[in-house]
Amino acid sequence: MRLVLLGLPGAGKGTQGDLLAESLNVPHISTGAIFRQEIEGETELGKRAQSFMDRGELVPDEVSVEIVKRRLGEPDCANGFILDGFPRSVPQAQALDLALPQLGVALEFAINIKISEAEAIRRISDRLVCSQCGATYSRKWEDIAQSSVCPECGGPLVQRADDTEDTAKNRLRVYLEQTHPVVAYYQSRGILVTVDGEQPVMQVFTGIIDAVKPGGVKNSSTGVGQ
Ligand code: AP5
Ligand code: MG
Ligand code: ZN
Repeated sequence: MRLVLLGLPGAGKGTQGDLLAESLNVPHISTGAIFRQEIEGETELGKRAQSFMDRGELVPDEVSVEIVKRRLGEPDCANGFILDGFPRSVPQAQALDLALPQLGVALEFAINIKISEAEAIRRISDRLVCSQCGATYSRKWEDIAQSSVCPECGGPLVQRADDTEDTAKNRLRVYLEQTHPVVAYYQSRGILVTVDGEQPVMQVFTGIIDAVKPGGVKNSSTGVGQ
């Protein structure tokens, strides 16, 4: 299965990407997570990406496209992939359309996880991530509200560097200006599936699985269209 996940910051791309990757047995590739790893490793790429990420701007297309092209050529992508946070601009979507045929494969679905801007801001300000294993949580969850360590690995839970109020607002603006047109791009290609991202996590997941499985029936909250 070859999918891309679209949606506002905080829509649940990372959360659903993990669930889908496990269920479909394909890698979850998040360009944001790749950049965060490079920043942590203090690499040249990390240094280049950091100033853009700190401001909530997009890292230049040529940098992101190169990383994704290289990653999709790795052997674990032979049976598919879940791309999270890429493409994020129409030029990135066009670059993906050029790269996939070279690998002998095609994109099957673009999943648009839809939430309101108010919900995006709420989720971003409540989000905590494990600084050790990268798992994502919400301060709203009872077990997390009562503890400052990761239930998976015991690592410290922290706020993501770009989850400040000003940067989050800029990320929303950048999404609407540069990434939202990608939704129409895939709609015109007939592979867009829109899911209501304000349902509980497992209902969002089931909605996506129902839409992408062969002969899958689309439920009321899921459908092809914007
Ligand atoms: P990236 O890391 O992709 O960030 P983003 O798009 O802003 O999205 P988030 O990771 O904030 O949200 P998410 O949709 O993954 O939600 P999550 O599952 O965590 O990119 C960061 C930066 O990197 C960009 O700003 C840019 O600078 C750069 N970048 C990345 N890719 C690029 C590219 N292709 N080109 C150029 N630059 C690029 O969930 C959010 C919270 O909500 C969590 O707390 C979660 O627990 C909770 N939650 C999830 N689902 C639900 C639910 N159904 N109900 C209630 N709570 C939920
Ligand atoms: Mg994410
Ligand atoms: Zn952890």
